[in-house]
Formats: sequence, structure tokens, C-alpha cells
Amino acid sequence: MAYTKRTDGRKFDELREMEAKVGIIKSADGSAMFRVGKTIAIAAVRGPRDLYPKFKQDSQKGVLRCNYDLMSFSVTERKRPGPSRRSQEISLVTEKALLPVLELDNFPNAVVDVFITIVQADAGTRCAGINAASLALADAGIPMKDLVCAVATGIINEDKVIVDVNKEEEDLEGGLADTPMAILPRSGEVTLLQMDGEASKEEILESIKLGKRACEQIYRVQRDALKERYGGMKDAAD
Ligand code: CDP
Repeated sequence: MAYTKRTDGRKFDELREMEAKVGIIKSADGSAMFRVGKTIAIAAVRGPRDLYPKFKQDSQKGVLRCNYDLMSFSVTERKRPGPSRRSQEISLVTEKALLPVLELDNFPNAVVDVFITIVQADAGTRCAGINAASLALADAGIPMKDLVCAVATGIINEDKVIVDVNKEEEDLEGGLADTPMAILPRSGEVTLLQMDGEASKEEILESIKLGKRACEQIYRVQRDALKERYGGMKDAAD
């Protein structure tokens, strides 16, 4: 069946409503919340601190470790608590998406830990996690070349690209080529590009084009959150 109208009434290239807040967890060195529609991600950063066991240290630069966790209460169907192949994969791609912006040369033998917790899931959780983590790293004062913005697009009706896919759309009969991506807003560099489904080269290029546009909006929400916390404040660490 042709998908002519989105299930939640959005335009094909429209993102869900977004919200971001920085500095939400006092016990962490940096933290942030990023919400898109009903998907809510929380990220907390610990570090830089000495990495143990010592054989894991890099004497040239700090090491980034990401841990993604989808809470069992975040989804409607039962999800077994604890790590899974899925969470390991998402932790790994998140690390790769964030690493290019981090300047870890000043932190030899250290580790920066990023803990991403999904408290409510309605698709796009890896992207929301990356958006939150990028803000939490900035909040922790880790030197960064740029923020990282992430969104998932989907290809539907064979050629139509939709932006910021929700779970209902992901589950549509006939399938959808789900394409999460992370983009550095200033350089346009793509640091994450995954695809689940089938698509032509043209469809993938169109997805990236619309994803980049969506990331400009995400970047604005992220910058506003940082401004809200740090703009005009003398002591940002309180
Ligand atoms: O969340 P994301 O789109 O990055 O990754 P996914 O593996 O494609 O998962 C899509 C969605 O399926 C999640 O956002 C959840 O809403 C849902 N999900 C679920 O209900 N139960 C799970 N164990 C895993 C995912």
C-alpha cells in the first residue's frame, strides 16, 4: 500500500519535536538529555581519568568507551535487561561516530567513558543517544572540533525518503530501508551510515541529503541547550 500520509501527520522531511538539556546529572563530569518525539536518551560522561588495567592504556592519547543501554521499561514489549548483541553493536558504532570530533591527544593513558541510557524508545534511539552523548561530552569540557548530529531516514514506496522514522513507520507492512546517520554539522562529514533494507544509490544519496538538512535543525537544538547552560554564565561548573 502506498504511504502517502505519515502515521503521525508529519511532512515527509519533518522531524519530530525535539528537546535537549545539558548538565542534568550532578554526579557525572558531563551529562545531557536529548528527546525526539517519544524517544528519550540520557548520556553521562565520566573522565578523562586513568585507564585500568594499564595494558589498555594508549600512551599517545585518551581512549573513548561508549556504553549504550536500552532500559527494559523503555519499550512496550518485554526486553531482557542487560547487554545484548544489539547494544554491543550500537555502543561500537556510537564510539566510531563520536571519535572523529574528540581531541584526546592531551589525555594520554586516560579513558573517557560515555554511558547512554534509553529511557523511552520509539525508534531512532542510537541517533538520539549520539545527540545526547555529543552534548554530554561538550558539557564535560572534552575538547571537540564539532558537535555530532544524528538522525535516521527511511525509504518507503521504493523512492520516497522520510526523515526521522518512528517505530510505527519502522514496522510498516512492506518494510522500510532504515538509514541512521551521524553528521558533523560544520564540515558535513558523515561519521555513521548504516542501512537496514534495500535501496538504490540514488535513494541513499537522497537520504543523506535530507539527513544533512535535518541535522542542521538538530544542531540548532543542541547549540541552544549548550547556550542555555553556559551562555553568559561565569561559572559553568556549578
Ligand atoms: O532504536 P534504533 O532505531 O536506533 O535501533 P533499532 O534496533 O532499529 O530499533 C528500533 C526500535 O525498535 C527501537 O527504537 C525500539 O523502539 C524498538 N525496540 C524494541 O521495542 N525492543 C528491543 N529489544 C529493541 C528495539
